[in-house]
Amino acid sequence: MGDATHDIPERTPVHVIVNGVSHTLDLAPWTTLLDALRDHLALTGTKKGCDHGQCGACTVLIEGRRVNSCLTLAVMTDGAEVTTIEGLAKDGTLHPVQQAFIDHDAFQCGYCTPGQICSAAGLLAEGRARDADEIRELMSGNLCRCGAYPNIVAAIQQAMSRS
Ligand code: FES
Ligand code: FES
Repeated sequence: MGDATHDIPERTPVHVIVNGVSHTLDLAPWTTLLDALRDHLALTGTKKGCDHGQCGACTVLIEGRRVNSCLTLAVMTDGAEVTTIEGLAKDGTLHPVQQAFIDHDAFQCGYCTPGQICSAAGLLAEGRARDADEIRELMSGNLCRCGAYPNIVAAIQQAMSRS
C-alpha cells in the first residue's frame, strides 16, 4: 500500500480573481486563503485574529458570500471571485457599509473593521436582517474587542436603509 502523503504535491497552481484582478498563484496545498491574500498578494487589509474561525477578522467575500478566509484553503477558491476590503469601493466611491462605518464612528482600534465591513456587505446581500436584533445575531461571528458594537449596528442599519 502506498503512502498517501507522497501523492500530495508540494505546490499547486491556484487561479483566483481578487478584486477584479486575475492571479495564478503557486501555493502549498494547505495554504489558507487568508495567508494567500496577505503573504502572496500583499493584501493585508484582511486581518488574522484567531486563525481558528472564531473572531471574523479574516472575513472576505467569495462570489459575494461572506466566509472566514482562515478556514478556507486557497485551492478551494480556484476559479472563484474574491472580494476583500481593498476591493469594496468602486470608482473612488466607498461601499455604503464603509461610508456608514465612518458616519457612525463604528471602530476604535480598527483591527476587526475590515472583517466587520465585509461581513456586513455580505449580510446586506443576503437580505436576511430586518432589525437591530437580527443584525446582532447575524453579525455574531464578528467579534470586536473594543466593544464598538452599538456603533457597528447603527452603521449597518444606515447601510441597510440606503441599499
Ligand atoms: S482569523 Fe479567521 S475567524 Fe479569526
Ligand atoms: S475596533 Fe478594535 S477590535 Fe473592533
